[in-house]
Amino acid sequence: MAQKQAAHPGASKELFTLLSQVGLVGKHIAQDLSRAGLIDILGTTGEINVQGETLKKLDEIANQTFLKVFDQSGLVCALASEEMEKPILFPENWPQAKYMLLFDPLDGSSNTDCNMPLGAIFSVVKSASNDRMPTEDDLVRKGTEQVAAGYLLYGSSTMLVYTVGQGVQGFTLDPGIGEYLLSHQQVQIPVRGKVYSVNEGNYHKWATGTKQYVDYLKISDTATGRPYSGRYSGCLVADVHRILLDGGIYLYPGELTRPEGKLRLLYEANPLAWVVEQAGGRASTGTLRILDVEAKQLHQRVPLIIGSAGDVRDAEEFTQGRRTT
Ligand code: AHG
Ligand code: MN
Ligand code: MN
Repeated sequence: MAQKQAAHPGASKELFTLLSQVGLVGKHIAQDLSRAGLIDILGTTGEINVQGETLKKLDEIANQTFLKVFDQSGLVCALASEEMEKPILFPENWPQAKYMLLFDPLDGSSNTDCNMPLGAIFSVVKSASNDRMPTEDDLVRKGTEQVAAGYLLYGSSTMLVYTVGQGVQGFTLDPGIGEYLLSHQQVQIPVRGKVYSVNEGNYHKWATGTKQYVDYLKISDTATGRPYSGRYSGCLVADVHRILLDGGIYLYPGELTRPEGKLRLLYEANPLAWVVEQAGGRASTGTLRILDVEAKQLHQRVPLIIGSAGDVRDAEEFTQGRRTT
């Protein structure tokens, strides 16, 4: 990261320190997860979170870990989390601390008790102005305003993957020495893949164009590498990471009764969209580039189609009714 910082004068030393602190969160959570079945961190807290979803113990632990690592760091003037209705503002850190961190502390929560992959997603924006303290509204920004974005993947190994606008770098945690080592430099996503990732259990809730696209992927056609294989882990970070490296497409579409879809714009879609675009891929709602979506609320949801540029373009043609086969 230090080398990268030297190469990217636009990204300050504080920004790289902030990224290292995200890595520290990853070390803590990875250690907890490696013993999850042996310590009392599985199951639910019995509460319902701001998203209206059951709060898992690990959601809360991951959220608290982000707060512990950042609230005394002096690095941020605001923190916003999927697990907190309201952001935490640090006027005492402003204006020295110009960064604001938005995060999904644990992604793939349905996987916590069955040892399946999990992740965390983060987005960094700069405080909107230098002459007043940040407010909640300053956190609600378009994806094009991010200065850093990425994710932690708790898989067979723990990875930190990020972009500061100069490509995508991937670091793998070496638990033996407790350090992240650069393992994936300047990641490039293939123009097309052979994998699609979507919850087919929602098929009957989708609009016609979405159904037609997923049906199209299943029809055999050697010229276009179809049928694609289905791969859906229940963890957005894990599914997108696979697609980032091997190509393909992930969809969480809007539904007839929930046109905005499930995933959150500011701390799921925007950061992953920037990472995938920086690797040469594409991310859209089906009709609009994710990074251009006008953000209006902190926990705003958005349909997400993300992955290889060729595959996402195909999906957009079907979604927009410009193609049916
Ligand atoms: P989170 O655990 O942060 O709520 O995110 C879960 C997301 C995403 O990780 C995953 O791809 C998707 O929700 C799974 O949703 P379904 O169970 O509805 O398929
Ligand atoms: Mn999530
Ligand atoms: Mn989450």
